[in-house]
Amino acid sequence: MTPEPAGWDVPLYAHALDASDVGPGTSVLDLGCGTGELAAAAAARGARVVGVDADPDAVKIAGDAVPGASFRVADVHDLGPVDALGGPFAVVAAVQLLTHVANPLRVLREATRAAVSGGTLVASVWGREQECDVRAFGEALAPWVPRRRPAAGPPSLTDPDHLRKVAWLAGLAVAGIDEVVCDFDYPDEGAVLEPLLASALGRRAEAGAGRDAVRRAVLERFAEYRTAGGGYRLRNVFRVLVAHAP
Ligand SMILES: C[S@@+](CC[C@H](N)C(=O)[O-])C[C@H]1O[C@@H](n2cnc3c(N)ncnc32)[C@H](O)[C@@H]1O
Repeated sequence: MTPEPAGWDVPLYAHALDASDVGPGTSVLDLGCGTGELAAAAAARGARVVGVDADPDAVKIAGDAVPGASFRVADVHDLGPVDALGGPFAVVAAVQLLTHVANPLRVLREATRAAVSGGTLVASVWGREQECDVRAFGEALAPWVPRRRPAAGPPSLTDPDHLRKVAWLAGLAVAGIDEVVCDFDYPDEGAVLEPLLASALGRRAEAGAGRDAVRRAVLERFAEYRTAGGGYRLRNVFRVLVAHAP
């Protein structure tokens, strides 16, 4: 539902690559590479990048966008023989991946297996809900959409203590967890409202309350994020785990 402005993630990728010392010749395995934005940033630094993602369409886009890297369709829970991927790797990245997989511990174990001894694992996750202004999108529509049940199961990886523990269980030595702030900047009301109202939840709210009421509620909720230039700035915290393989 959250409309993500283009380029919001550039500082996150830069931080992940700086924190893992990616430079000319570094071998990088990009787990859950999506459409290849991190891979592109790493390749631009002269790294040798292999990207893996379960989504064949994303892998095709990544391959076209970053011709200097190699990409394949695979499940990050089971990477298969590491040498067949071109590894082991000096850096294994899992940017915005771990909260999307069924078993983050298993994925981190695979990441550890894919790294050279002493190699670096760098992984990012969203901060806690209260640390991310994007929660305002859901809050604005809350009167008209069903309340989410609290998630069952273990604590979320947005909890840094849990993230640290899962990395430790995977056999990694945690060097640190950094905080990175990424601003979501919207130039005007339309950039906030239009994608939100076009989303499934937005359409449901509009069907129940009418467009004007939903529009008013969203703008009221977003008033605190209004900038002097008439746009909106949402501040979101991300955490970047840096750890080393044994
Ligand atoms: C939020 S996106 C992040 C993409 C990219 N790392 C980025 O920062 O733009 C999560 C990605 O993880 C991939 N993914 C989720 N589960 C996966 C799995 N089990 N194996 C491989 N890729 C997976 C999705 O296809 C998606 O491209």
